[in-house]
Amino acid sequence: MAIIKVQKGTKDILPQEMPVWHFMEEKANEIFTKYGAKEIRTPIFEATELFARGVGDTTDIVNKEMYTFEKSERSLTLRPENTAGVVRSFIENGMHRLPAPVKLWYKGPMFRYERPQAGRQRQFHQVGVEVFGIKQPTADAEVILMAVNYLKALGLNDLTVELNSLGCPDCREEFKKHLKDVIRPYLPKLCEDCQTRFEKNPLRLLDCKSPECQEIYSKPEIQKVIQGDFICEECSNHFEELKGYLDTLGIKYERNKLLVRGLDYYNRTVFEIKSNNLGSQNAVCGGGRYDSLVKNLGGEDVPAIGFAMGMERLASLLGEKPEEKLKAFVISNNIQEAVKYTEELRSKGYTCEFDLANRKFVKQLEKASKVAKYAVILGEDELAANQVTVKNLETGKQETFNRNELILS
Ligand code: HAM
Repeated sequence: MAIIKVQKGTKDILPQEMPVWHFMEEKANEIFTKYGAKEIRTPIFEATELFARGVGDTTDIVNKEMYTFEKSERSLTLRPENTAGVVRSFIENGMHRLPAPVKLWYKGPMFRYERPQAGRQRQFHQVGVEVFGIKQPTADAEVILMAVNYLKALGLNDLTVELNSLGCPDCREEFKKHLKDVIRPYLPKLCEDCQTRFEKNPLRLLDCKSPECQEIYSKPEIQKVIQGDFICEECSNHFEELKGYLDTLGIKYERNKLLVRGLDYYNRTVFEIKSNNLGSQNAVCGGGRYDSLVKNLGGEDVPAIGFAMGMERLASLLGEKPEEKLKAFVISNNIQEAVKYTEELRSKGYTCEFDLANRKFVKQLEKASKVAKYAVILGEDELAANQVTVKNLETGKQETFNRNELILS
């Protein structure tokens, strides 16, 4: 019979990979907690409308990549990202009444129907942070600091922080108008996606990967508009202040005026952290400010900023971590005593197993040497003397202890 295989763009995270995943999750808890963030877990599916209104119906994510299905005449969608879900929960649970800032962090699976390739999956995991209630650039700096320090805690170096400001809706309109004016003469030569973007979301033109479009966008008159400073005084001050904080914190960054991000909710600060050791999918972190989203989704006027990181991409940079061996494997031909003593060692906090198959002594020892650091032997002599013999399976050294006084290092 044909075997059923894992779906394209999805992966099992196998037991031998778990140490790296636990490491990423534990570090997230440790680092984000230090900044006063609390973990939140929101559902994996939400009303489709949340993403259409939240992420934006001109984005690729909403237009092409959502896993949407109907149940009881409701349109539901597997979350393609978690900012919209966290904002929904923030509003629904009246979190705007909590003292600001409200700092939340999350981890979990996301779903996007994208063309799978190295570093790009259809089910992937993100770890992320969202900070609500502060409009000043101190929040932008702190959020970037949290991302950078988390990556540092994982031991990841060789990363570049790219930074840009998209301005506010007012100054962005101005920029879009100039951009459209200068690109209009080339419109018939642009790819199909860019022709749509030109009308619906001209900022996204800058994100196009097609070499033909890129060639057009590199023309001097277009570059002049892209590289020009279009943001208004207030947005410019916000950005300058942020850069000042980052300098004070010693966080290096590069300005990337082409950084526009693929989600519609951003204003002012956007950033990505890229690895120099990944292929084309080299963004390990993406984030930015989204001051209108809470209001647009029906909440109060609460500014916010956050980021999310792709955990598969982090895991591939971290490589495999060695699996931890069991502390002890209890060896005995007296199965009753083996069960009892194994349980005793577990209750003392040791990871411990015995041979469920109750095989011969030698087989048990063979198994122990594969899976454990110590073999804890309860032979007839030991049982009679209320003792245990402990064999260090790495050094071969043996010691005898009173049964109740065993301590394993
Ligand atoms: P995003 O840039 O779409 O932003 O995703 C953030 C990160 O998730 C990316 O930098 C990448 O590491 C990872 N990622 C995205 N798509 C995939 C995929 N198909 N396969 C593997 N990894 C992927 C957001 O999702 C925003 N919600 C971030 C944010 C939070 N902005 C404000 N708050």
